[in-house]
Formats: sequence, C-alpha cells, structure tokens
Amino acid sequence: MLVRSLAALTFASLVLGQQVGTNTAEKHPSMPIQVCTKSGSCTKESTSVVLDSNWRWAHVTSGYTNCYTGNEWNATACPDGKTCAKNCAIDGADYAKTYGITTPSSGALKLQFVTKNDNGANVGSRVYLMASDTKYRMFNLLNKEFTFDVDVSKLPCGLNGAVYFSEMDEDGGMSKYSTNRAGAKYGTGYCDSQCPTDIKFINGEANVEGWGGSANDQNSGSGKYGSCCAEMDIWEANLDAAAYTPHPCKVNGPTRCEGADCGNGDDRYSGVCDKDGCDFNSFRMGDQSFYGTQMTVDTSKPFTIVTQFITTDGTDNGKLKQINRFYVQNGKTIPNSVVQIDGIDPVNHIDDNFCAQQKSVFGDNNYFKTIGGMTQMGNQLKKMVLVLSVWDDHAVAMNWLDSNYPTDGDASTPGIARGRCDSAAGDPKTVEAAHPDASVIYSNIKLGALNSTFKAT
Ligand SMILES: *[C@@H]1O[C@H](CO)[C@@H](O)[C@H](O)[C@H]1NC(C)=O
Ligand SMILES: *[C@@H]1O[C@H](CO)[C@@H](O)[C@H](O)[C@H]1NC(C)=O
Repeated sequence: MLVRSLAALTFASLVLGQQVGTNTAEKHPSMPIQVCTKSGSCTKESTSVVLDSNWRWAHVTSGYTNCYTGNEWNATACPDGKTCAKNCAIDGADYAKTYGITTPSSGALKLQFVTKNDNGANVGSRVYLMASDTKYRMFNLLNKEFTFDVDVSKLPCGLNGAVYFSEMDEDGGMSKYSTNRAGAKYGTGYCDSQCPTDIKFINGEANVEGWGGSANDQNSGSGKYGSCCAEMDIWEANLDAAAYTPHPCKVNGPTRCEGADCGNGDDRYSGVCDKDGCDFNSFRMGDQSFYGTQMTVDTSKPFTIVTQFITTDGTDNGKLKQINRFYVQNGKTIPNSVVQIDGIDPVNHIDDNFCAQQKSVFGDNNYFKTIGGMTQMGNQLKKMVLVLSVWDDHAVAMNWLDSNYPTDGDASTPGIARGRCDSAAGDPKTVEAAHPDASVIYSNIKLGALNSTFKAT
C-alpha cells in the first residue's frame, strides 16, 4: 500500500536475507492483556501487537525498488509467486506516523481510520496480538470468557471496528514454508472465513498469478489464491450497529484455496468456509433500541463486552454448545438483547437451535450447519490468533452490518434491516472523505474462566 520516496534512503544495504527489509526497524507496540482465574485474580501478560504484512512496504531485497505499487506487482521482480517471494522483502512499520496505530495508555490501542503520511494516506489497519517478538499469542477459548472495552464514539456508519479470532499459525507460517522468512514478526499468515484473495503473500509465495487491481480501491487487488480459515467474530461494530458471529470452516488452520473452494460468487455455499456465519445483531434480531447513542448500551461512551464460550460438559475439552454475550457500562451488567422475531425463540445467545430458526425465518442458507455448526466452531476455537482492525467495505459498503441488506430488500421483511444507517453512508469514497478522523479504541483485554473477568451486578 505504500509508495515510498527512494531519494531519502541512502544508507548501505542492511538486508539480512530474503523477505525481511531493514529500512525501518520493526518495533511492536506494547498492548498488555490480563489472564484471570476462577477466583477472580488476574495476572498481567506482556503482549504486543504487529501490523499485518499486507499493509507493509514490499521492495526488492537488494534496494528500494517497489515490488508492489498501488495495486500492481512489478513484473520484473515478480514474474511468478516463487520468484517474487525470493526477490522481495517486506519491511518494518512506523506504526504511529504511517499507519495511525497508537497506544494512548497501557493496555489500550487506538486505530485511526485515515492517516495522512509521507506516501499519501493509509486507510484502515489490521493487527495481531503477539506473545513474543516472533510468535502470535495463541488462544483456546473453550469454556472461557473473553472481555475487552471499546470506544466506538468516533466510529460512524459505514465503518467496522473489529475484534475477532482467526485460526492462524503461531509463527505466521514460517516453519511450514521455508520461503517465508518474515513470519509473525512481520504479520504474515493471515486467513479468515471469507478466504480473502487480496492477500499478497500466501504460503511463502506471492499471490501474483491472475492478480488484478480492484475496481474501486487503488491500493488493493486480488489474485488466484485465497487464504481460508475459521473465524470467530467477537465484535464487528460502529456507533450504530454491532454483531457477533461464528464462522467455522471445513479446513483446519490456514489453507490456501483456489477455484470453487474459495466460495466466491455462485460457489458461496460450496466453499470450504461458512462466509455468512451465524450472526447475532440485536437490531436485526428485533430490538432496535438496544444498541446506539443513548440506548440501552450507550455507544457515545466506552463500555465492556463479555463473550462466553460454553461447552456441553462444562470443561475445556467439551464441545462448544453456546456463545453468551454481556455488556457492562457504568458498573452495570447489561444482558444481551432478547430475540423479538416471530418463529425464533426469545433467546439472547447463539446456539445451533438459534441458528437454525434464524436461517429458516430469514430465508438464509444454513451453511453454518452444513459445515458443522457449533461443534465444528468449537474444534477450531482451540488455537486462535486475536485480530484487531478498523476497515471500510469496498464490496457492499458495510450494509450487511448497519443498514438494509440486500440493499434492495424490503426493510419490513424480517432479517433485512440490520441497523439504522443510510445505505450510502458506507460507500468508501464517501466515508473516507467525510470521516478521515474516525477511530476506535480497544482496551483492557482479559481472558479467563467463566465469570472471572467482570463483576456481575
Ligand atoms: C521493477 O523492478 C526492477 C528490478 O527488479 C526495477 O529495475 C524496475 O525499476 C521496477 N519497476 C518499477 C515500475 O518499479
Ligand atoms: C456465571 O454467572 C451466571 C450468572 O450471571 C451463572 O448463571 C453461571 O452459572 C455462572 N457460570 C459459572 C461457570 O460460574
């Protein structure tokens, strides 16, 4: 995404080897979390975050020539994926200045939506939690709860501040693929349930083959391959809408896909991942005054989000049965909103029964069930990497989260209305121009035994 000026960089080549550039030292911003036990005592863990490799400057190892500019690969350096991986290095990141990623206080992370920098501007970002300088922090969420605070007060319609888990490799794929010399330290190995094809390096190779620039994003494109894996969306939200969504996959761990397996277009319900997932969005589930400015959860102020992964036998080895949600604001526990849709039980959690009823009433394909439902999601919650991001949506303007979707659907038909946002608000051009200063702050991340990370009141 970066087009660097070459003139200013004059020092002798310090390149260590293939794929790691040394023009900017890589220094991971600190973001400690807490781990809590049943007794309620919590211990601090010295974790940090790393920027995804897709956002980084990719240049030839022997100098400063771009391997990738705008949305095109340099055909000389990158005639094919293997050669490109050999010729090109990804470099360290200036988190604050280039990407607008800062740590306003200990345990807090702020992601700025648009950041003007020496190269133009950076839009959005995606970071992963690290246990060490070279390894992601791995999470097993079964029979646990995951808690964090969010401030979405400066995150308007059309944007998505996301906190989720992807089943990535601990080292970013470095030990599996010898041509990946950068690894987790440089944010490699991303995958998710949409099997994204805009990933520049997958399995230690550049995604050069078939690469084409995006029609409406000058910094993005897509190649022949996608990068699939199970995903648990804890939080996809802005000021006016929020959803939490399990997305299991048939495949375990990061898996490069091509063709129908990627589940694009007509292959949506034959791909290896459940792209729709089974979402709980309070507005969509019939409570339109639960989440928003001065509503039950008042999004004009920070609040806490608690997500519990309940197993069938109440142990860490059980099957995933149910995913619970609570909010805490002003010292008060707020249970999740209860479903208010005819034909769906009035529950406030996600389980297989909720998913089946919701898909049936809304007329959606229950691909969640086809892929294995809660049990499969549970299998894949054992080795997860935490992702924190802010993004706008070049495909469907975030309408699936905060407006009517499909856009031409009748808002009075159950399932169509997902939020009160105008469907045009999330057009990337519009939202980038209107709200460059938008931002989200995540803080106080906690993992622990059930009921250990917050005080129910
Ligand atoms: C592509 O890379 C080659 C070196 O591999 C370099 O000579 C050339 O200037 C680059 N082209 C662009 C447009 O950056
Ligand atoms: C957690 O607290 C809820 C009540 O808020 C209770 O129903 C549940 O049994 C508790 N779970 C555990 C494992 O203590």
